Amino acid sequence: MSGSHANDDQVAYWNGPEGHHWADHEDRFDAMLAPFVAPVLDAAGVDAGSRVLDVGCGNGALGRAAAVRGASVTAVDVSAPMLARARAHAAAEGLAIEHLEADAQVHAFAGGFDRVVSRFGVMFFADPVAAFANLARALEPGGRLAFVCWQGQPLNEWVAVPALAMLPIVGPPDMPPADAPGPFAFADQARVEGILSAAGFTDVACEAHTPAVLLGGGLGLDDTVAFLAEGGMGKRFLAGADEATAARALAAAREALEPFVTPHGVRMATATWLVTATRP
Ligand SMILES: C[S@@+](CC[C@H](N)C(=O)[O-])C[C@H]1O[C@@H](n2cnc3c(N)ncnc32)[C@H](O)[C@@H]1O
Repeated sequence: MSGSHANDDQVAYWNGPEGHHWADHEDRFDAMLAPFVAPVLDAAGVDAGSRVLDVGCGNGALGRAAAVRGASVTAVDVSAPMLARARAHAAAEGLAIEHLEADAQVHAFAGGFDRVVSRFGVMFFADPVAAFANLARALEPGGRLAFVCWQGQPLNEWVAVPALAMLPIVGPPDMPPADAPGPFAFADQARVEGILSAAGFTDVACEAHTPAVLLGGGLGLDDTVAFLAEGGMGKRFLAGADEATAARALAAAREALEPFVTPHGVRMATATWLVTATRP
């Protein structure tokens, strides 16, 4: 990827094992995160004729859903393995989506968008105010921004339950500061509102959106635990644990998840913000 080095750490992260984990298990992530697609597109007012920018598009599900509504879509991400999936799906489904491998914080977008959307793809910027100011520039006056981001970890059962089960066995993981780039960087509503206002957006609103999800997208209990262990959170908790300790921690996570097993998979509560704003 050419251009600036504003987010080198995240570029490396999403082109490394975590990016491949998301690409390899795209079906699981898309099944798990399906409840967030329509709410984001509806909040942005995406319909036929919309000119949409999907930020942090990953494997591309949100942008494809916008294209299916008749929007013209550009999808941007820093992750080569996930963009490869996004491109392949769009081609297979006959959707003319433009894909950009670029850092949304600094990329000079051609402009002309009237909707900027994201499903969990905007919490990773080193300089969020600069990034959202850049996205505001990509929007036409009156254009709408809508994205979904996680509220705090304790409110997200799908994280808190396995984490609390593993904690006594492996000890507290090495955690970055709360506002460092990462999935939970936008947990604080006041921080999100401050960032978007400072970036030039108006009518900023954070609405709690709390659908249940199927952890791992509808797997059985053992596969769900294996999926967790392979992902970013599992790796963080198990880093440094020897094999026996890791096995005990995962057994504890399995036991804690058991009450959430349903015929459809491991069903757990989420807490997110559905954030909307306008480019004046
Ligand atoms: C949690 S994943 C979500 C992927 C996708 N939106 C979905 O819902 O499946 C976060 C995505 O943001 C992307 N990302 C992180 N920082 C970025 C940046 N500065 N510019 C563009 N994409 C970025 C990552 O590569 C990753 O694909």
